[in-house]
Amino acid sequence: MLSDKKILVGITGSIAAYKSILLIRLLVKAGAEVKVVMTPSAKSFVSPLVLSTLCKNSVFSELVESDQWANHVELGRWADLFIIAPLSCNTLAKMANGLCDNILQAVYLSATCAVVVAPAMDEDMWHHLSTKKNLSTLLSYGNTIIPVGKGELASGLFGEGRMAEPEEILQFCTEAFFRGISLSGKKVLVTAGPTYESIDPVRFIGNYSSGKMGFAIAESLYMAGAEVLLITGPSQEQLLYKGIKILRVISADEMYESAAPLMGQVDIAVYCAAVADFTPSIKHTEKIKKHSDHLLLELQPTIDILAMAGAQKKTNQYILGFALETENEKENALAKLKRKNIDAIVLNSLRTVGAGFGVDTNDVTILSANGVEKNIALQSKKSVAAAIVSFIIDELYA
Ligand code: C5P
Repeated sequence: MLSDKKILVGITGSIAAYKSILLIRLLVKAGAEVKVVMTPSAKSFVSPLVLSTLCKNSVFSELVESDQWANHVELGRWADLFIIAPLSCNTLAKMANGLCDNILQAVYLSATCAVVVAPAMDEDMWHHLSTKKNLSTLLSYGNTIIPVGKGELASGLFGEGRMAEPEEILQFCTEAFFRGISLSGKKVLVTAGPTYESIDPVRFIGNYSSGKMGFAIAESLYMAGAEVLLITGPSQEQLLYKGIKILRVISADEMYESAAPLMGQVDIAVYCAAVADFTPSIKHTEKIKKHSDHLLLELQPTIDILAMAGAQKKTNQYILGFALETENEKENALAKLKRKNIDAIVLNSLRTVGAGFGVDTNDVTILSANGVEKNIALQSKKSVAAAIVSFIIDELYA
């Protein structure tokens, strides 16, 4: 994943430095070449020997070591990415003010690559106005800040200030390298997952949709540079990238209410959710008792979110829907494309083993209003998502 990438890890004096050991392992495992630069005080928290053994490179902690001058300019130019994790309050303040009293500062000031920082501090320090000011100065320099987590802190307090976990930092590094620009500036809405229609407080009508396809599409659009909002029904899926906004809803009605205000505003919309077509006319507030040997439920149609979006489609908007058909697949999908006034439809088939609900793979055909037809043979939903996104890009810039 990160092969051929040169990553410089900067470590400062913070108890969270123990996580840098894991981060270096993950980066090396992902194929990156890793070098380490640390502040002198970081050595009290983690040993240079452990770090140099893990990254199989020398570790730099002094500007002058055994009469040899460590070339900070060379280090700063060597790296494709400089990730400072943990970033202490002290180093943050020095970075914001251009101080240069140790090798890490010197490398930071001479680095020509992207800089990502993962702060770690106690909650009160994290909320101090000077910290906020220094962080916004770093942002203005173009540095990326990985949000801190909430939890147990070294002081014994519980709160905000924990350094992000190594897996999350790895994700940011991947993003820093691979997030493209083909959709930058585009606002995108994606719907995903099933919806649950309440019968009573303990029962609902739902479907087998896992949300995997919609989540993968949201991630692919994000990695193509778009600003993405994902509205999902109940799903176990988690997003890889923190930059994607996510709204979790339950019912078709809630999904519609969340999507409606954005329909006219987004440049691209992908309606991937398996929205329930019908919902109980009456939602019982108490559990329905087993009074008789049968139960009649009256259902009424839900709002067709995609059709609503199609009805108010703007000239420069691109809308893509999904269709799950079991007979006359292509004809039905094309009829849906026309009826809902959208630009393209992704036809899912239940006939292919390994495609459809719940599984990690899919096999789809994309049909566009321009008459283009593209089959994407059985492959992982992530690859199918990438192919759908490249189809959208081709259509947008054709
Ligand atoms: O008409 P049908 O339900 O087969 O259409 C499927 C497409 O319409 C999918 O893109 C789905 O997300 C969307 N849809 C919707 N709201 C509904 C039903 C379907 O957005 N209530």
